[in-house]
Amino acid sequence: MPVFVKQKELKAHLKSFSHTKKTIGFVPTMGALHQGHLSLMEESMKNNPITVVSIFVNPTQFNNPDDLKKYPRTLESDIEKINSVNSDIIVYAPSVEDIYDGNTVSTSFDYDGLEFQMEGKHRPGHFNGVGTIVKKLFEIVEPNSAYFGEKDFQQLAIVKKLVEKYHIPVHIVGCKIHREANGLAMSSRNERLSAEERSKASIIYKTLKEAKKLFGTKTAAEVSKWVTKTFEKQSLFELEYFEIADEATLLPCKRKSKSKNYRAFIAVFVNNIRLIDTISLK
Ligand code: PAJ
Repeated sequence: MPVFVKQKELKAHLKSFSHTKKTIGFVPTMGALHQGHLSLMEESMKNNPITVVSIFVNPTQFNNPDDLKKYPRTLESDIEKINSVNSDIIVYAPSVEDIYDGNTVSTSFDYDGLEFQMEGKHRPGHFNGVGTIVKKLFEIVEPNSAYFGEKDFQQLAIVKKLVEKYHIPVHIVGCKIHREANGLAMSSRNERLSAEERSKASIIYKTLKEAKKLFGTKTAAEVSKWVTKTFEKQSLFELEYFEIADEATLLPCKRKSKSKNYRAFIAVFVNNIRLIDTISLK
C-alpha cells in the first residue's frame, strides 16, 4: 500500500494518474482508526477509483495542550486497518513540518456564525484549526469528493461552508455515525476510557434517544432540563453542554418551527476525556 510522508511525493504520485481523469475521494483523519473511519473509506472506495486517506494529528485545532499530548497515535496499526479495507488506498501521514513548514498557526475563517455555537463556544480556535488543515489538505490532494462523519456534525457543516465561501471545488459527503454495540459513538478518544467507563458511557446515546422522544411533546428548554438532571445523577460523567439546534444554522431552538430540522448535540466529560454525540430529531 502506498504510504507518503511528504506532500511533494504524494502530489507527484497523484499527478501520475491525472491523465486518466479518475476521480479522487479523500478521507481526512487524525488516526487511531476505528470502524467509523473505515466506513468513510468504504464509502469513498464505492464512488471513486482513487481514495486518499490522511493521518495527521493537527496541533492547531487542539485548544487543550493535554488533549493534544494524550491523543492516541497508532500509525502502524492504522496502516494495517486501511490495508484491510483495500490495499489500493493511498495514505498520507505527514509530519507537522511537512504541513506547516515551521509556521504552526491557524488562519481565521468566517463561517457565517456556525463557529460560534456549541463546539466553537467550548473549544476556542478549534474551527480555525480545522479550516486551516482541511483547506491545506484539499490543496495538496485536490480531491473530487471528501468524506466526513455526521458524528462531528458541526465540523461537517463548517467544512461545507468553507468550500462554499472559498470556492474550493470539492463535493462534501456526510456519512452516518458508527456506534459500539452499546450505542456509544465510536471515537478515537474511546481508547482512553476504562472498561467500566466505556460500558457506562452508553448513557450518552441512551439519553439522546430519550431526548428525541421527549422532544415530540416537550419544548427544547424542557428537554434540556431533563438531560441536565439526568447527568447530575451520574457521578462518572460531567455534562458540558446539551443543545437542541436548527441543523441549517446551528442556532439553538427557542420555539419549534415545522419548517426546520432539529438536531440534539451533547458533549460530556468522563474522567477528563471529552466525548461528543448527536442525533437527528426528525
Ligand atoms: P477524526 O476525529 O480522526 O475523524 C475523522 C473523520 O471520521 C471525521 O469526518 C469524523 O466525523 C469521522 N468519524 C469519527 N467518528 C466517527 C463515527 N463514529 N462514525 C462515523 N464517522 C466518524 O475529525 C477529525 O479527525 C479532524 O478534525 C479532521 C477533519 C481530520 C481535521 O484534522
